[in-house]
Amino acid sequence: MPDNAVPMREDNKQPLKTGEKLLFIVAGIFLLFATIAFGIMQYVMATSDKPIFEQKTHYDLSAEGQKGSLIFRVSTCTECHRAMRGGTNMGNNLDGIGSKRSLAWIESFLRDPETTYGHVTMDHGPKPKQAFFVAEMTEEKRHLMAVFLSELISEQGSASSPVPPKGESPFIDSMVKTWAPDEWKEKYTDIRDKPNNATASERINEQTGVK
Ligand code: HEC
Repeated sequence: MPDNAVPMREDNKQPLKTGEKLLFIVAGIFLLFATIAFGIMQYVMATSDKPIFEQKTHYDLSAEGQKGSLIFRVSTCTECHRAMRGGTNMGNNLDGIGSKRSLAWIESFLRDPETTYGHVTMDHGPKPKQAFFVAEMTEEKRHLMAVFLSELISEQGSASSPVPPKGESPFIDSMVKTWAPDEWKEKYTDIRDKPNNATASERINEQTGVK
């Protein structure tokens, strides 16, 4: 046997290389931290009296809205949408939509999605788009669903609200100062300067030109 030959080991195992050891150590540390962090999060969630994810949308359904909510659920809208905290996030989250869109807008969208959006849509619209059936539902059903959706309200300043939080916001001021081009500042008025009696959807309609 030549001097430099590697002797065959009986169990046929090779020792780990330094890089491999390092990889396992890093992965191990990562897993350990993830487990500890998960444990801490569960503990905080179980003992804190404040909810971790603050709910900033609410609903108070009228009789029509309740009927609409039932139609919404049985029509498989929740396969793509989230509403009243149930459903999926494949399409838009519709919680809070009533603060952003008017009843007339929602009805118009359900009937005629692309014209209402003013551009091509992904799932709503004519066949073979997946949500083609929405525009083919009866006008009454679409109306009731639109009423339901228009009653899903968001708090001002929440992610689904078109209006920023009340009061001064140094963060928004600095973002506008840094990022908004001068041309926008001349063209648009600051949404926060609108009179307080304008509703959220009036404000957004004016900004976007969507009625
Ligand atoms: C296959 C998935 C899918 C299904 C099913 C579906 N939607 Fe949608 N929905 C979308 C997507 C994606 C959008 C964004 C517009 C687009 O690209 O089609 C949207 C947009 C909307 C909007 C406009 C939201 C906004 O503010 O811009 C409304 C309202 C809406 N859907 C209601 C419904 C209702 C009511 C149903 C059931 C009758 C339904 N959708 C079923 C995927 C779906």
